[in-house]
Amino acid sequence: MSRFSVGRIRDLTPYVPGEQPQDRQYLKLNTNESPFPPPLSVVRAVESEADRLQLYSDPENRKLTEALAAYAGVRPSQVLVGNGSDEVLGFAFQAFADETRPLLFPDVTYGFYTVLAGLYRIPYTCVPLREDFTVDPEPYLGKRRTVVLANPNAPTGIPLATEQIERILCADPSSVVLVDEAYVDFGGESVLPLVDRYENLLVVQTFSKSRSLAGARLGFAVGSEALIADLQAVRCSFHPYNVNRMTAAAGVASLQEADVFAHNCRTVAENREWTADRLRSLGFTVLPSKANFLFASSDRVGGEELYRTLKKRGILVRHFSAERVSAFNRITIGTRQQMEQLLCAVESICKEESL
Ligand SMILES: Cc1ncc(COP(=O)(O)O)c(C=O)c1O
Repeated sequence: MSRFSVGRIRDLTPYVPGEQPQDRQYLKLNTNESPFPPPLSVVRAVESEADRLQLYSDPENRKLTEALAAYAGVRPSQVLVGNGSDEVLGFAFQAFADETRPLLFPDVTYGFYTVLAGLYRIPYTCVPLREDFTVDPEPYLGKRRTVVLANPNAPTGIPLATEQIERILCADPSSVVLVDEAYVDFGGESVLPLVDRYENLLVVQTFSKSRSLAGARLGFAVGSEALIADLQAVRCSFHPYNVNRMTAAAGVASLQEADVFAHNCRTVAENREWTADRLRSLGFTVLPSKANFLFASSDRVGGEELYRTLKKRGILVRHFSAERVSAFNRITIGTRQQMEQLLCAVESICKEESL
């Protein structure tokens, strides 16, 4: 810390992203990226914008917003795009939460929520997940708090049923319920069809996982016109050119590749179920995930030990040190071949442990 920084900055506990090592080639199963490259049409769309980089991007992101509105079945005024869904979450936290309207989210969920709350000095309460790592909706009902739910949740991968989200929405129509659907395309159920029914529902999605565009940084929010107008006010007070022209073009092209998108999501879901079965047959506890990752633990090898041993063997998974989940590792689902490589390593580590 420099002697010039203000108190608010000194108190921060910044987010620690999953490792992106540059030292050697790893099998990267630690940051929930897609194992598939973006379709060629998306690459071409990016290239076609490269020689126009002297010009600012469209601050209203018209083409992309219209394409997303058509995708989500809403009006363009109900869509906001951002530099990754992390930025969209940041706008939403600033718009809909403060000391008069604290945040409520699960104790085990996406770690960035507490980081953003720290940055914007928003008080928050963490609601413990049930023993089986599912979300209990009861503590979220009628609390006059801004509720944030990753659905499916991360790092558990467990979804919450739409009826339960509706219960939370109905219990307090004066509080925003933000549903972060970063992983919904891999078999979860989106609440996008509900945005015209509930003025307090804000849905956030990303192009990072199911659309193979993590490096492009593109996320979006869909909600009532009133909620989106609030988010636009924050965006335009912070960074009106928040989505660069190459990323905007990539987004539009990606939405035109419905078949590739569906195929990739299906493949990941199949590989997930296949991997979960194999891990269970090796004695692992594997939570019932609908995301592009599995959260798994074993009695034979500790969570941190497995993470370290896999890393030595050139395979990266994600380990979290928080006590409640330290026995687990979060394993991103890759191609079948990548999952075979992982399982081979896990099997041999388990064998060595039981010698
Ligand atoms: C639950 C959840 N939400 C949002 C994000 C942010 O994704 P991005 O900023 O790449 O869109 C992530 C990233 O891992 C996530 O796990």
